[in-house]
Amino acid sequence: MILLTGATGKTGATAARALAGKGLKLRAIVRNVEKAKPLADAGVELIVGDMADDSVLTRAMAGVSKATLVLPNTEQQLGMELHFVDRAKALGVKHIVKLSSIEAEPGVKQEIPANHVKVEAHIRASGLAWTMIRPNFFMQNLLGNARTIKEQSKFFLPCGEGKTGMSDARDIGLAIAAVLSGSGHENKSYELTGPQALSFGQVADIFSEGLGRKVEYVNLPIADYRAALTKALGNNWHMNAVCELIGGIAEGGLNTTTDTFKQITGREPTSLAQFIRDHIAMYK
Ligand SMILES: NC(=O)c1ccc[n+]([C@@H]2O[C@H](COP(=O)([O-])OP(=O)(O)OC[C@H]3O[C@@H](n4cnc5c(N)ncnc54)[C@H](OP(=O)(O)O)[C@@H]3O)[C@@H](O)[C@H]2O)c1
Repeated sequence: MILLTGATGKTGATAARALAGKGLKLRAIVRNVEKAKPLADAGVELIVGDMADDSVLTRAMAGVSKATLVLPNTEQQLGMELHFVDRAKALGVKHIVKLSSIEAEPGVKQEIPANHVKVEAHIRASGLAWTMIRPNFFMQNLLGNARTIKEQSKFFLPCGEGKTGMSDARDIGLAIAAVLSGSGHENKSYELTGPQALSFGQVADIFSEGLGRKVEYVNLPIADYRAALTKALGNNWHMNAVCELIGGIAEGGLNTTTDTFKQITGREPTSLAQFIRDHIAMYK
């Protein structure tokens, strides 16, 4: 039995679909039954509840050999993930596949990747088998710019000339599925990126091509970005953590590409042009 977490999210939903297609026995912890209907329809057993609830973890982990650890970035993420690992160890799970990030290098200052470093270290120290999935910036982050691209043909980010080897989160889900359904992935760390390192000026050019009209990237001062984010998020912890990460892009922190996705899945990673075609209704 494989236990999936985050299975209604950007990476987890794709992982679940790919694994269900292989006929594997799957269980998922979900909070919202309606949102999880496609999982149930695909034959995934649902445990309805919150991962902060110990009784949910106990029910979900019974008889499980492999589990994914996928949670969004919140102030609670670190504590919930450390606890998940302890419960997995106690309840006989053998292998954890942890969604981390490519910035999660020892000594990193930003809080989100620093928390991933702590969870990775806790998993390694647990004695369980592990696989760390460490993606670059998700193309799906650009869905947050859809409104201004649609209305003004502009998008605003404080990333300067910084480049990211941006990856499609659906590819990350496919990589997770390949790890869970394949062999030889124990105690490996995978840095996953898209096919190209792109500056946001280049991202604008690819949007222009895809939409058939000129799209412009506007480099926003970080203070203006912070002010806009404060309104949108209304949560100080999240706002500070995201500003730290975005600031790292301007400094060149994500200018990396690897061919690990192809090595694991045998497929080419999704290009930004394809991502835009797949989400064209959001931008047109
Ligand atoms: N965005 C990027 O550029 C990027 C790059 C590299 C790494 N990452 C990492 O990716 C991770 C997030 O993955 P994602 O984007 O696939 O996630 P996501 O799309 O934000 O989805 C989060 C999933 O977790 C579930 N969830 C949230 N809180 C829960 C709780 N308390 N109990 C049970 N389920 C809960 C959500 O369920 P509901 O449907 O009920 O909300 C959803 O299925 C983060 O750790 C981040 O650091 C992100």
